[in-house]
Amino acid sequence: MTRDVGIGIVGYGMMGRAHAYGYTLAPRIRALPCTPRLRVISGRTADAVARAASSYGVERSTTDWRDVVNDPQVDIVDVCTPPGTHAEIVEASVAAGKAVLCEKPLAVDHSSAVAAANAAAAAGVPNAIGFNYRRLPALALMKQLVDEGRVGDVLLWRGVWLSDEFLDPDIPFDWRFERAVGASTIADLGAHLVDLALWMVGEVDTVAAQSETFTRERSGRAVDVDEASSGLLRFATGARGALELARVCARRPCDFFVEVNGTRGTLRFEYPNLNELWFGDRGDDDELYGFRRIRAEHESHPYARDWWPIGQGVGYGVTFVNQAADLLERWPNGPWEPDLAQGARVQAVCEALERAAAEERWVRVDEVTGEPTPATTTS
Ligand SMILES: NC(=O)c1ccc[n+]([C@@H]2O[C@H](COP(=O)([O-])OP(=O)(O)OC[C@H]3O[C@@H](n4cnc5c(N)ncnc54)[C@H](O)[C@@H]3O)[C@@H](O)[C@H]2O)c1
Repeated sequence: MTRDVGIGIVGYGMMGRAHAYGYTLAPRIRALPCTPRLRVISGRTADAVARAASSYGVERSTTDWRDVVNDPQVDIVDVCTPPGTHAEIVEASVAAGKAVLCEKPLAVDHSSAVAAANAAAAAGVPNAIGFNYRRLPALALMKQLVDEGRVGDVLLWRGVWLSDEFLDPDIPFDWRFERAVGASTIADLGAHLVDLALWMVGEVDTVAAQSETFTRERSGRAVDVDEASSGLLRFATGARGALELARVCARRPCDFFVEVNGTRGTLRFEYPNLNELWFGDRGDDDELYGFRRIRAEHESHPYARDWWPIGQGVGYGVTFVNQAADLLERWPNGPWEPDLAQGARVQAVCEALERAAAEERWVRVDEVTGEPTPATTTS
């Protein structure tokens, strides 16, 4: 018998569904010190959230997120609403003594993100930000190989995220087109890539960027979110980086790529082939010049032992199961990682990119944070 841990989910959309799936499967893939119980889920429309509760296996539903936060049966509040609502819900949750998992981005601006992260730290509760791609076996392996020095010293980091979700000018206005609710594309999509960059290479000092919005009005309302942005990153280590985020790329559903070039080799990850990692090793004999395709499913690889035999592969949903398992494994004391402070660190880089694009100049990240960049860490 293990102790029950009560989960309350705020938001029943795509992420509410994904997180509920994660808690449901986590105890099936790993021995955990606790048993997650999906107690309550909230949403704004009573019948829709009731249907979601029944289909996700949640005991009850409510139209008021404060019911989730104040429910004595809830130990962990899981925030799956649009970005502009996150900080307030996180602050209320930690004030009520609850642990928090918050979807990315932590907020729509850096000061709200810092306020939320500081509130969680002051409350002393376990807290995490939903950078789920870290839990994809191939990306976890990429980080491990960088840390082991397989590519030598990192010279260049590159991240690209392409989708077509905003391409059609007839898509009606929704929260993703309103920056105060949905955040910029730099912060919403970019948060994942910036997190991976900071995780693998260390702190970013300075950035440059450009942004464009091609369809500036939808359903008669002004769109103030960038549809495509690209940026340049200077890391504290001296490494350089490039980033591209775009939601107007025809026939690109959710294609992202991450590449690291070091003094000894290159590692490349391509999301359409998410069980693979490409490694070009300068230590190879010259006649082997090129890349080897690593199957990131071998039992020696991160997360692989929890899943299927090599050759079967895993998919997107596994990131949420791995995330739930990693957090519940450390229940009730934590610490959890990546924590909300990492969410705020990522937000600082995103806000520096937004400022660089708006003002057409290089921007130091400490202009946003008001403090010098912390010592480089890749842990
Ligand atoms: N980690 C990932 O892979 C990933 C993928 C998609 C979305 N996300 C993030 O998850 C969060 C939720 O995204 P989603 O795709 O689940 O959204 P969604 O539109 O599918 O669901 C949003 C939910 O929030 C509720 N809500 C509360 N306030 C709202 C408001 N002001 N406007 C609209 N809905 C409101 C809705 O009722 C609904 O239950 C966002 O922060 C998003 O960036 C993460």
